[in-house]
Amino acid sequence: MRKVRDYYAVKAKKEQYPARSVYKLEEVQEKYRLLRPGDSVLDIGCFPGSWSLFAGVAVGEKGLVVGVDLEQGRQAPRPGSAPIHWLRFDIGKADCLVAIKKIRPAFKVILCDIAPTTTGNRWSDAQQSLRLVQTSLQLAETLLLPGGNYLTKIFQGEDVPALLQELRRAFVLVKVLKPRSSRIESREIFILAMDYRGGEIITPEDGGPPDGAGNSIDIAESDTQR
Ligand SMILES: C[S@@+](CC[C@H](N)C(=O)[O-])C[C@H]1O[C@@H](n2cnc3c(N)ncnc32)[C@H](O)[C@@H]1O
Repeated sequence: MRKVRDYYAVKAKKEQYPARSVYKLEEVQEKYRLLRPGDSVLDIGCFPGSWSLFAGVAVGEKGLVVGVDLEQGRQAPRPGSAPIHWLRFDIGKADCLVAIKKIRPAFKVILCDIAPTTTGNRWSDAQQSLRLVQTSLQLAETLLLPGGNYLTKIFQGEDVPALLQELRRAFVLVKVLKPRSSRIESREIFILAMDYRGGEIITPEDGGPPDGAGNSIDIAESDTQR
């Protein structure tokens, strides 16, 4: 495991990305092409900025990236990149949506690598992660264009199957992913939801039992060996 960690950390330094997490997005992009030239991208929980830098190049000069985080992003876009707007906001506060909409009222892609400050308590960390993801989905209900794509990190927990059920109602394709560059010991997984049908995503009153159907994990180590 240490070898894998070192490999991606060294690669990130060499390629001048501020975080090794960029390779998780790169793997998903290589397999699913969720970012296309000209796309508008909202990157939620963007600091220190690797995903936004990568997305900027993927969507190119005709695209647009808005990154929002509690911390102020400062990275300069790469050559050939879309412009990147760095916003410093708590996504749970109403002024965040107002600030995003001032730049762009709707987005083709929403990325969400948001993470709570972890406590080491698996249950409460998973709950905090779920809450942040639900908040990002409330933003998506307002900001994501029909046909758009959504990618989020989430800590594995008992509520994930129910969340997947809701996403399957709102998107045509939903996949659970564990990129090779995500540490095996990490509880994080990624959910990719493509081709938004529009309308409601999260229904708070929906307490139906999760069926767990189709919750298999993709991009397992075995199919991403190079
Ligand atoms: C793992 S980091 C993101 C790394 C980033 N994707 C990259 O590649 O550089 C998670 C981020 O979520 C942010 N975050 C956590 N809670 C937040 C909130 N309520 N509003 C905005 N950002 C939040 C943290 O400040 C942290 O920078």
